Amino acid sequence: MKRVGVIGAGKIGGSLVARLSATGNFDLTVSDVHKEQLEHFAEGYGVETTSSNREAAERSDLLVVAVKPWDVGRVLDEISPEIKGDEKAVVSVAAGVPISAIEGGLPAGAAVLRVMPNVCAAVGLGSAVVAANESGEAHLPEVIGIFRHVGDVIELPERLFDAATALHGSGPAYVALFADALIQAGVREGIPRDVARRLVNGTIGGTAVLLKEAGARPILARLRVQG
Ligand SMILES: NC(=O)c1ccc[n+]([C@@H]2O[C@H](COP(=O)([O-])OP(=O)(O)OC[C@H]3O[C@@H](n4cnc5c(N)ncnc54)[C@H](OP(=O)(O)O)[C@@H]3O)[C@@H](O)[C@H]2O)c1
Repeated sequence: MKRVGVIGAGKIGGSLVARLSATGNFDLTVSDVHKEQLEHFAEGYGVETTSSNREAAERSDLLVVAVKPWDVGRVLDEISPEIKGDEKAVVSVAAGVPISAIEGGLPAGAAVLRVMPNVCAAVGLGSAVVAANESGEAHLPEVIGIFRHVGDVIELPERLFDAATALHGSGPAYVALFADALIQAGVREGIPRDVARRLVNGTIGGTAVLLKEAGARPILARLRVQG
C-alpha cells in the first residue's frame, strides 16, 4: 500500500485526503498545525495524524506539501532530514513557488514535483497541471494517479505554470463573478433569487458539458446563427 503524507489539511490537502482515504488504497498520514483539523481527519477518515511534519515525512514515501506558499520554507526545513536521495517524492501544490525554490530547501538530488490544482478539487472536478525535476520524473505517473482522484491532471512544462494558473487557477473566480452578475440581473428583472440561481447554475453546468463535447467556437457559431 502506497504511503502518502499530506502536510497541511486545509482546502486542497483536505480534499485530497478525503478522496484518497475513500479508495482504501493508500496508507495516509496527515499533519497540520491545528489539533482540531487532525481530529477531524482521524475520526472522519481513519487516517494517521501527527502534529510533526518530520514524522509525516518519515512515515511516507510520497509527501504532498499543501501549506500556504509562505509556510513552505519552514515545512521543508522540518522534513529535510527525512529526504535522502530520490526515493521519497516531495510534491508541492503551493502557488507561485518554483521547483528550484523547493529543491533549494531540500538535500541535493531530491525528487521534487509541482502540482497546480484549482478549487474545483474540493468536489472532485478539479483541473491541475504537473511538472517534475529530473529526479522527480520517475514519480510522475504515481503523482498524476494520486491527483486524478480530485480531477483532471495534465503534464505541462513548468515555464507555463503562471499562464496556466491564470486560466484554471483564477478561472473559477471569473465564472463565479459571471454567475453572480447574471443572477443579480435576473433578480433586478423580478425573478426570485432561488429561481435565478437555479437557472444560472444549470446553464453553466450544461454549458460545461457542451464545451467538453464540442468546444467553445462551435457552440458560439451555433448560437449566433440561431440568434
Ligand atoms: N485553495 C485553492 O483553491 C488552491 C488552488 C491552487 C493551489 N493552492 C495552493 O495550495 C496550498 C494550500 O492552500 P489551501 O487553500 O488548501 O490552504 P489552507 O486551506 O490554508 O490549508 C493549509 C493548512 O496548513 C496549515 N499549516 C500552516 N502551516 C503549517 C505547517 N508549518 N505545518 C503543517 N500545517 C501547516 C494551515 O494552518 P493555518 O490556517 O493556521 O495557516 C492550514 O490548516 C497553497 O500553497 C495554495 O497556494 C490552493
